[in-house]
Amino acid sequence: MSNLGITVTEHIMLQQKYIPKATGAFTRLLRELVLSGKLISREVNKAGLVDILGFTGETNVQGEEVQKLDDYANDTMIKRMSRTGQLCVMASEEVDGPIPVSEKYPRGAYVMIFDPLDGSSNIDANVSIGTIFSIHRRVTTGDHGTIDDILQPGAKQVAAGYVLYSSSTMLVYTTGQGVHGFTLDPTVGEFLLSHENIRIPEKGGIYSVNEGNYHYWDDRVKSYVDYLKTPDKNTKRPYSSRYIGSLVADFHRNLLSGGIFMYPADLKSGKPKGKLRLMCECAPLAFVCEQAGGYASDGKRNILDIEPTSLHQRVPLYIGSRSDVLMAEKFLEG
Ligand code: AHG
Ligand code: MN
Ligand code: MN
Repeated sequence: MSNLGITVTEHIMLQQKYIPKATGAFTRLLRELVLSGKLISREVNKAGLVDILGFTGETNVQGEEVQKLDDYANDTMIKRMSRTGQLCVMASEEVDGPIPVSEKYPRGAYVMIFDPLDGSSNIDANVSIGTIFSIHRRVTTGDHGTIDDILQPGAKQVAAGYVLYSSSTMLVYTTGQGVHGFTLDPTVGEFLLSHENIRIPEKGGIYSVNEGNYHYWDDRVKSYVDYLKTPDKNTKRPYSSRYIGSLVADFHRNLLSGGIFMYPADLKSGKPKGKLRLMCECAPLAFVCEQAGGYASDGKRNILDIEPTSLHQRVPLYIGSRSDVLMAEKFLEG
């Protein structure tokens, strides 16, 4: 039978048999995540109508507070995921410390870290945005999970992925058995398998970086970007430049077509510093990328091997086609 028409929920259930130690708990968790993605997608899609429909004040016609999409996405994830009873603690880009699971619900064996709305500065211009998630198994044994459950290296993730809100809404996930993409069919409200077993090309022809920061970069970063722009038939240079400014969307394009996304350390603050967050942005996408045959590095080492020291730790990121990221590492050795 063709796989066309298989829903993400069916797919998750089929995948579960390949996951060591997985129980129905894990499936339950991913199903709730799928529903959260649909709810956020609905709000994102109607965002442009808010002014037209007159939701200009603090409350809408139903007397509910009109929330910023960031807050809506964050609250939706926290509320829905808590209720599964499968998590012991959560962490979000929007919240300073660990987010406990409400006493109302049982605690479970998993930990979830997320960026509820990535690229949210692009919302007003109708540009693609996304939700990124990372799931670990808990390592502590108390009633509630702790920061120790959150601060695990990316290599320990049991699942990761993202929902991309764009011309279509897509969900892309891995449980360590390849990367699979689903497109939301709004007429039936289901994510249907559209991209089975995604493989990123070994080498690409696109580089994605905020080149406005060029003068704040280390000379080695400048040399690598200069190299990508220097014509050479044998290595198919120059690369094309593509930069949306939403990590999920930039990453997704390069995952399908090949290429490298980078957010190098820069000297904007005086000290060399990356912008993107290890736990809720870099590590989950690194897991997806590696599962698709690509590679993610902080310029020196595999992102998945970094032992996190704090929840909102930022790191430089080079992610995409394996040979492009290895070449970036070579330049950075310098
Ligand atoms: P967020 O909206 O979750 O804060 O993340 C924004 C990030 C990321 O999506 C994007 O790759 C990067 O910021 C863009 O940064 P610049 O505007 O500095 O290029
Ligand atoms: Mn983000
Ligand atoms: Mn965000």
